Amino acid sequence: MSRLLHVSASPRGERSRSDKVARRLIAALGAAEVETLDLAATALPAFDGAAIEGRYDLIEGRAVDPAVLAAWDGIRAAVAHFLSFDRIVFSVPMWNFGVPWRLKQYIDVLTQPGLAFTVDAAGVTGLAAGRQAILVCSGALDIRPGQPGAELDFQTAYMRAWLGFIGITDVHEVQVRPTYGSPAEVEAAMDRAYAEADRLAAALNG
Ligand SMILES: Cc1cc2nc3c(=O)[nH]c(=O)nc-3n(C[C@H](O)[C@H](O)[C@H](O)COP(=O)(O)O)c2cc1C
Repeated sequence: MSRLLHVSASPRGERSRSDKVARRLIAALGAAEVETLDLAATALPAFDGAAIEGRYDLIEGRAVDPAVLAAWDGIRAAVAHFLSFDRIVFSVPMWNFGVPWRLKQYIDVLTQPGLAFTVDAAGVTGLAAGRQAILVCSGALDIRPGQPGAELDFQTAYMRAWLGFIGITDVHEVQVRPTYGSPAEVEAAMDRAYAEADRLAAALNG
């Protein structure tokens, strides 16, 4: 694995707990090239009504507004950029049981028919197949797998479902929970997540 993309979905910068654990993991993975995509600091292409209608106009060969052409150039560039990496680490805080809106916008930009997946009579083919994803998921509540309330984790479940749809089935996860509680409880959660990240890096490097 040579090129690693870190998609950071928390707007909390240096204070982000999911980022802290992701950075530790990435350092241990020792990729040749690492790029960070800080979604809070990135102007993503607009995926609005004009871009959606323009998609059908482009597919059917009709003339489109230059602004729509520019939006699609941006969308195609974002998909090509994503697909140029062979390992993607996502740091994802839970927001209202799902993922933060900027990450959802990024996913909506990337998930284009013909660019990220194709559909034919045989079904869906994900065009990102062969890549590896690592999810570093944080949350205030301790709803790790096996804990009461784990069924409320639409954040990890959604990320796994989306990755599978675009063809990424080699998916690993590190859970950073609970990040709300007494200082001792939060410190224990961070220590547990760092240890999980270290174990995962050792397993993937081995
Ligand atoms: C808008 C918003 C919504 C949140 N919703 C949830 C939630 O549904 N469940 C939860 O466990 N924590 C929730 N949290 C808490 C964050 O997931 C938690 O603070 C996490 O550690 C943030 O990760 P970060 O430090 O990487 O940004 C929410 C935080 C924010 C700002």
